[in-house]
Amino acid sequence: MRAALAHPCTHFPLEYPYLMTPLTNDLFLRACLRQPVERTPVWMMRQAGRYLPEYRATRAKAGDFLSLCKNPDLACEATLQPVDLVGVDAAILFSDILVIPEAMGMELTFLHGEGPKFPVPIRTTADVIALPVPDPMVELKYVMDAIALVRKNLAGRVPLIGFSGSPWTLATYMVEGGGSKSFSVIKKMLFDNPQALHQLLGKLADAVAAYLNAQIASGVQAVQIFDTWGGVLTTRDYSEFSLDYMQRIIDQLTREHEGRKVPVILYTKGGMGWLEQIAATGCDVVGLDWSIDIDQAKARIGNKVALQGNMDPAMLYATPDRIRAEVRDILTRFGSGDGHIFNLGHGITPDVPVDHARAFIQAVKEESPAFHQQGSLP
Ligand code: CP3
Repeated sequence: MRAALAHPCTHFPLEYPYLMTPLTNDLFLRACLRQPVERTPVWMMRQAGRYLPEYRATRAKAGDFLSLCKNPDLACEATLQPVDLVGVDAAILFSDILVIPEAMGMELTFLHGEGPKFPVPIRTTADVIALPVPDPMVELKYVMDAIALVRKNLAGRVPLIGFSGSPWTLATYMVEGGGSKSFSVIKKMLFDNPQALHQLLGKLADAVAAYLNAQIASGVQAVQIFDTWGGVLTTRDYSEFSLDYMQRIIDQLTREHEGRKVPVILYTKGGMGWLEQIAATGCDVVGLDWSIDIDQAKARIGNKVALQGNMDPAMLYATPDRIRAEVRDILTRFGSGDGHIFNLGHGITPDVPVDHARAFIQAVKEESPAFHQQGSLP
C-alpha cells in the first residue's frame, strides 16, 4: 500500500502566495510549448476517477458526484490523488464539463450508473434566449476555490490543468437531455433550426471563454477543451458548429499568466480527419484519439503544434509487459525530439486495475529519456 496523501487539503487565507511557488516538474508545460525536455511527460484523461478506490472513498464522503464537484476541499483531494498515487506529470482539476449548463440554471442529475441527465432540455429558440450567461466568479466560485486549494497543496510539484467542454459537446447534453448514441435531437435542430443552435453555441462559447479565463486567473497553468462529440459531425458541420466556436473561445483566452505562457489543448474525439484545421486555430497542443498513428499526425501538424496522446485506453486492460511494448511503439513512432505529451486517446475507464495505470506511467518515464537529449531527470 502507498502512504496516505501527504498533503491534506485544508482551507488557507486567500492571500496565500501560492502563485509564487516555482514548479519543480514543469515537463508538461515545456512539452506543450515544444521546448526541450529530458523525458516525455505523461498524464491521463479522467485520471481522477472511479478506477481509484481512494476516489470512491472521497465521493462517498461528499455523498454524490455533483456534491463532490461543489466541495472545494474534497475536489482538491480528488485532484491530487492521481499525482500522489499514480505519479502523473500534471494534475487536472477535478470537476465536470457539465457544471457550465448547471450554472446557467439547468437542473442536472447524475443518477447512479445512468450518466448525466438534464430533465428540462433546451429545445426551442425561446429556451435558448432564456438561458443566462453565468458569471464564473459567482456561479462557479466553488471551482475557483478548488483551484486555489489545489495550487497550494500541489506546492509546485506538477502543473495544474483546467478544462471545459466545447460548445458543441456541451450543447449535445443540453439539447438531448443527457448522453446520446444517435444525436438525433440536436442534429434535427442543426438542420431545421440552425439559427437557434448558432445562438446557443455563441452563448456557450462566451460562457466557456469567461470560465476558462477565470480558471487561469485563479491559477490553472494550461487549459484543455474537450470536444468529445465533434466527431459525430460531417466535415462541413464540424467546421461550422464546433470548430468555429472553439476558435471564438481561443481568440478570447488569456495566453500568459504568472510570467508563463498558458498552453491551450484542443481535443476532438473522432476528429483525426481535421487535424490541419484544428492546428490552425492557434491552439498549442492537439489532442489525439487512438484512431491515428502518431507518426502520421506528426507528419501532418507536428511543425505547428505539440501532440498529446494517444494510446488506446483499452490497452490498460492488457498485461504491464504488453502496455510497455505499446508505450515503446508510440514513442518510437513519434521519434526523437520534443512536443509530445503522452496520454491515452480518451479517458481511463473505471474497471482498469490501478497497478496497470501505474505501470503505464512508469513505462513512459523509463522508456522516454532515450528519445530526448540527456539531462537531469526530475
Ligand atoms: O480528467 C479528470 O480526471 C478530471 C475530471 C473530469 C470528469 N469529467 C470527472 C467525472 C473531466 C475532465 C470530465 C470531463 C467530461 N465530463 C467529459 C469530456 C471528457 C470525456 O471523457 O469525453 C464529458 C463528456 C463529461 C460528461 C460526463 N460526466 C459523463 C458522460 C459522465 C458519466 C459517464 C462516465 O464516464 O462516468 C460524467 C461523470 C463523471 N465525470 C465521473 C467523473 C469522475 C464519474 C461520476 C462518478 O464518480 O460517479
